[in-house]
Amino acid sequence: MGFVGLVTASCFADRGFKVIGSTLDEEAVKLINQGLSPFYERELDPILKRAVQNGNLKATLSNEEAVLNSDISFISVGTPMREDKSIDLSYIENSSKEIGRALKNKDSYHLVVDRSTVVPGTTRNIIGKNVETESGKIMGKNFGLCMQPEFLREGNSVYDTLHPNRIVIGELDKRSGDLLESVWKSFYGDAHIPLLRINIESAEMVKYANNCLLATKISFANEISRICEILPNMDIKQVMEGIGLDDRISPKFLNAGAGFGGSCFPKDVNAILAFAREHHVNPKLLSTVLEVNDDQADHLVNLAENLVGDFKNKKISILGLSFKPGTDDIREASSIRVINELIKRGADRIIGYDPHVDGVTEKYLKKNIEYAQSAEEALKDAECAFLITEWDEFKSLTPEDFKRLMKTPNLIDGRRIYPYKQFHKELLFRAIGRNDNKK
Ligand code: UGA
Repeated sequence: MGFVGLVTASCFADRGFKVIGSTLDEEAVKLINQGLSPFYERELDPILKRAVQNGNLKATLSNEEAVLNSDISFISVGTPMREDKSIDLSYIENSSKEIGRALKNKDSYHLVVDRSTVVPGTTRNIIGKNVETESGKIMGKNFGLCMQPEFLREGNSVYDTLHPNRIVIGELDKRSGDLLESVWKSFYGDAHIPLLRINIESAEMVKYANNCLLATKISFANEISRICEILPNMDIKQVMEGIGLDDRISPKFLNAGAGFGGSCFPKDVNAILAFAREHHVNPKLLSTVLEVNDDQADHLVNLAENLVGDFKNKKISILGLSFKPGTDDIREASSIRVINELIKRGADRIIGYDPHVDGVTEKYLKKNIEYAQSAEEALKDAECAFLITEWDEFKSLTPEDFKRLMKTPNLIDGRRIYPYKQFHKELLFRAIGRNDNKK
C-alpha cells in the first residue's frame, strides 16, 4: 500500500473491481479504510475516497485475508537500496512467503503478479519458489506467476495508471498471461493501450533498462551542458531543443540541471550495476551516468564559488529541496548533494526553502541547516542563491526580487528556469549549460 500499491488499488476499485489491500502499517489501514491516503499523491484523494465509499476497496493487516478472498495478488512492496547500493529484497521475501502460507489454505487457482522493481531472476527464483515452498503447490499448475513492471511517475501516478503508454506483461506461462491481460483489458475497456507479452526475466529487465536509459538521457544532457559552457552563446536549452526535434531522440528527459534524484533512478541504476558486477559484467556507461550525475552538484557549487569566493559567514539560500516539483519526497534529491558540498567547502549559514518540504532529515546532511517559510525569507540578506527544484512559485521571481531581497544578488540557476539574457544582464548570474562570461 505504498504509492504504487495504493494508487493501483484505488483505481481498480474505482472502476468496479473488488480490491483488498494489505499492509503491515496499522495506521495506514485505519486511514485507508476512512478513505484517506497516508501520503500525498496528486489526484489520489477523491479516487480513494470513492473507492472506499462504494465498498470496493478495503485495507487489512492480514495478507491471508487478502489472498483467500481474491483471485490475483499484486506485490507492490519496496525494494530499497542497501548500504552497499545493491537491492534489498527482504520485503519481497516476506510478502511472497506470506502469500504462499495463505495459498496453502486455498483450493482454487491464484495468480501472483510482481509489480515491484526486482533484479532479473527474482520473480521466478524467489517469489515463485517461496510461494511453492510455503504453499506446497506448484507454479504453472496450482498458481500462476507474472512480472508486470510499473512506469508510474511520483506525482503523476494516478494519471499514469489511467493513461499508460504501454503495458508490459512478463509471464510464466500462457494461462498466467491470459488472466492478467484480461484484467487490464477490462480495466481499460475501449482505450487502446499497447500491450506486450514477454517472459518474466525480460520484463524484470525492461524496468531497469527503461529507467537506465532515462537516467542516461539526463546525464547526456548534463555532459553536453558542460561543453556548452566553453563558449559564450552556446546554450544547452537551444541545443537540446534542436536535437529533441529528431523523433528518434524526442525532447523528453533532456533537461540539463542539478541532476536526477528520487527513489527510483539512483536506486535502480545502482541495483542493476551491482547485479551485473556480481555476475562479472562491468557496465561502463551506467557507472558514468551516476558519476556525471554526482558531478553536477559539485559543478553548481564551483559556479557559485567563482562568484562568491569563500562561503564562510555568508548566508546561502537553497530554493527547492524535493527531488522534483510536485512531491514532498527528498530521497536522493540534488539539494542534498549541493548542501553537503557547500558544507564541505566551509559554508556555515545555509537556509533552505521548499513549498512542500519542511526540512531535510538530519541523517542525510553533514550538518544541520536552517529552513525558511517562504522564498522571500530564504533570500533576505543572502549572498548567494541556488535554484535547485523548479517549483512554479520560483519561476515568477524577477531580477528585481533577487536584487531587492539579497545582500548580493548572486544567483545560480540549477534548472534553467530563468531567461538567461535578462537575468545575466541584471544579476550576478550563472546557469547550467550557458556561460556568456567566457571571452
Ligand atoms: C521515474 C520514471 O520516470 C518512472 O517512469 C518510473 O516508474 C519511476 O521512476 C519508478 O521507477 O518508479 P520519478 O522518479 O517519479 O519517475 O521521477 P521523474 O519525473 O522521472 O524524475 C526523476 C529525476 O530526474 C528528478 O530528480 C528530475 O528532476 C530529474 N530530471 C528529469 C532531470 O534532471 N531532467 C529531465 O529532463 C527529467
